[in-house]
Amino acid sequence: MKAIVVSDQAAGTVGMTLTERPEPSASINDVIVQIHASGFVPTELEWPSTWTDRAGRDKTPSIPGHELAGVVTALGYGTTGLSVGQRVFGLADWHRDGTLAEYVAIEARNLAPLPGDVDFTVGASLPISGLTAWQGLFQHGRLQSGQTVLAHGAAGAVGTMVTQLAREAGAHVIGTGRAADRAKALDFGAHEFVDLEKDALEDVGDVDLVFDVIGGDVQKRSAALVRPGGTLVSVVGPVEARPAEGLAVDFVVEADRAELTEIVQRVRNGRLRTNIGDVSTLDHAVAALNPTERRQGKTIIRVRP
Ligand SMILES: NC(=O)c1ccc[n+]([C@@H]2O[C@H](COP(=O)([O-])OP(=O)(O)OC[C@H]3O[C@@H](n4cnc5c(N)ncnc54)[C@H](OP(=O)(O)O)[C@@H]3O)[C@@H](O)[C@H]2O)c1
Repeated sequence: MKAIVVSDQAAGTVGMTLTERPEPSASINDVIVQIHASGFVPTELEWPSTWTDRAGRDKTPSIPGHELAGVVTALGYGTTGLSVGQRVFGLADWHRDGTLAEYVAIEARNLAPLPGDVDFTVGASLPISGLTAWQGLFQHGRLQSGQTVLAHGAAGAVGTMVTQLAREAGAHVIGTGRAADRAKALDFGAHEFVDLEKDALEDVGDVDLVFDVIGGDVQKRSAALVRPGGTLVSVVGPVEARPAEGLAVDFVVEADRAELTEIVQRVRNGRLRTNIGDVSTLDHAVAALNPTERRQGKTIIRVRP
């Protein structure tokens, strides 16, 4: 099968190559999915799981990409809940070969059915950003209606999902980002916008929940804004700054069929919009994943036309 592989961390995304790899076989509780569309998170090559398996052994050349939408073509021993020919989407295991390929072997529990009226490109754009936003807001952040959320990177892949889901849940959403992100963040539903390059974050006042996708100094200054009993949730590594009288949670998103189903249902009925930028093919994926201009949304690789 055709696949994008990486072998050298120092080379970054420029070092990605399109090559031939053996088709994967299905282990216990796996399915094989013929991939129609794949997502890719720009920081993936910084994650240790891109380079090693769960035992810490080198797994290069490895196939990156962990979001997919496609069709089940085979079931592993003991697999239940999905069937051959079914449209699915979901989140692939961090330590296994990923989704920038024609086929992937993946545990069935990492997938949810993709309704027939949702395009594969849309399906592949949802798993990481949608689940991360959902879990950060509702599971780790325990968001309640009427609370205030500071949504960093609000025009980004995760941030646009955070903004929409928080607003739908009845929160007041303050989005942040670069000056150029203002219109997009407001368009996705932020009530206010803070330009992190110009405005003083401190002027925001107290918030119940900070959703951090940036880290560093922004995280530190945000922790100071969290009200007593509030939460700072971060997805960019171990939390370095803790609210004085609140919680700090860092987490890595997990696959969850019920949550994927909730998310795709919101897309179907217009309550959630995707943030898709460039859509390219596997043959042109290396160029698409190395853009010369600032990305205008999530890049999706359409593996099958
Ligand atoms: N732990 C997890 O489970 C998990 C899950 C998903 C994502 N993540 C991580 O979360 C981060 C965001 O992911 P994403 O897919 O949402 O990325 P993205 O689409 O690039 O969105 C991030 C947004 O934040 C903006 N931003 C970053 N630093 C900024 C700064 N200092 N000032 C103002 N704006 C800034 C970015 O602008 P520029 O593009 O101009 O920098 C971009 O608009 C990544 O580090 C990713 O690895 C973690």
